[in-house]
Amino acid sequence: MTKTDVVAMPRWDRRNLLSIEDLRPEGIRDVLDLADRLQGEPPTRATPEDFHHATVATVFFENSTRTRLSFELAAQQLSAKVLNFNADSSSVKKGESLRDTLSTIDAFGVDVIVIRHASSGVAVQASRWVNAAIINAGDGQHEHPTQALLDLFTLRQALGTQRGVMPEDLTGLRVAIVGDIRHSRVARSEVLALSAMGAHVTLVAPSPLLPTSVEGWPIEAVSSDLDHVIANTDLCYVLRIQHERMVEARLDDLDAYRHRFGLTLERAARLPEGALIMHPGPINRGVEIDSLVADAPNSLILAQVRNGVTIRAAVLSLLLGARRDEIQGAVK
Ligand code: CP
Repeated sequence: MTKTDVVAMPRWDRRNLLSIEDLRPEGIRDVLDLADRLQGEPPTRATPEDFHHATVATVFFENSTRTRLSFELAAQQLSAKVLNFNADSSSVKKGESLRDTLSTIDAFGVDVIVIRHASSGVAVQASRWVNAAIINAGDGQHEHPTQALLDLFTLRQALGTQRGVMPEDLTGLRVAIVGDIRHSRVARSEVLALSAMGAHVTLVAPSPLLPTSVEGWPIEAVSSDLDHVIANTDLCYVLRIQHERMVEARLDDLDAYRHRFGLTLERAARLPEGALIMHPGPINRGVEIDSLVADAPNSLILAQVRNGVTIRAAVLSLLLGARRDEIQGAVK
């Protein structure tokens, strides 16, 4: 994306959340600020809006623990009804197409469809098929925007605690994203979100786990030497190896991978003082991250999970509020 494109792009219309690119920095700030207000200490804590007339459908064609449960908790916090679609016990098993499945759920009059699917681009396609707002909860290797938002929120809080004041942005923060970048939708959303907030991102992976091209990615560098990068890293963001997405040769020698790219106890000790560790989960202890590192005081892994509920409540609130305003505007 060029600077000209950035200027030309319109503000987030709050109809869908398909990609971090939809939001632009202002939209990211809107979500983070609302999440701050939802989670703030009384008397600054905002009461979540009441959307008891609204229905949120969670439509997952791939497994999930964190994303599905946090969206469902978030919808409940907003008093919305939750419709939970389980692909394995649905008419998909009788051959119903994706489009017919989504049109059927849309016909119930749901307001938001939170969708996860193994194919990149499904969220965008779904947004063209249905009236409901679409939230991309992970589409293939493409994007997982609410993961990146909850990570920014968590990071901002942790830096605020360290510095005694909440940072406005992440200018100058040195981030290493380490691991299976090629197959990771989290990595794509993370690079867009972190760079939009001013962080300097370095991708660290063996060449088979890098995208075929990173042209246009807003990154500082690509490296295959974690030992070189580690001493200049303020945030080490570790990724899981996505065996389920490997259509090329599988990565079988996990010990060799850990030896060169794992965030081992020994490597984590060489991070600068105050450096933070994140992982989107699920984690494979002893492969991409050592168990003691995952559970260390500077690991934000469980804070990421906790903040997932708040961020998803903020995103749902913004989308549901925009739909309500549109309907009220239409009847005036
Ligand atoms: N990080 C993440 O998307 O986790 P789940 O697959 O458990 O939802």
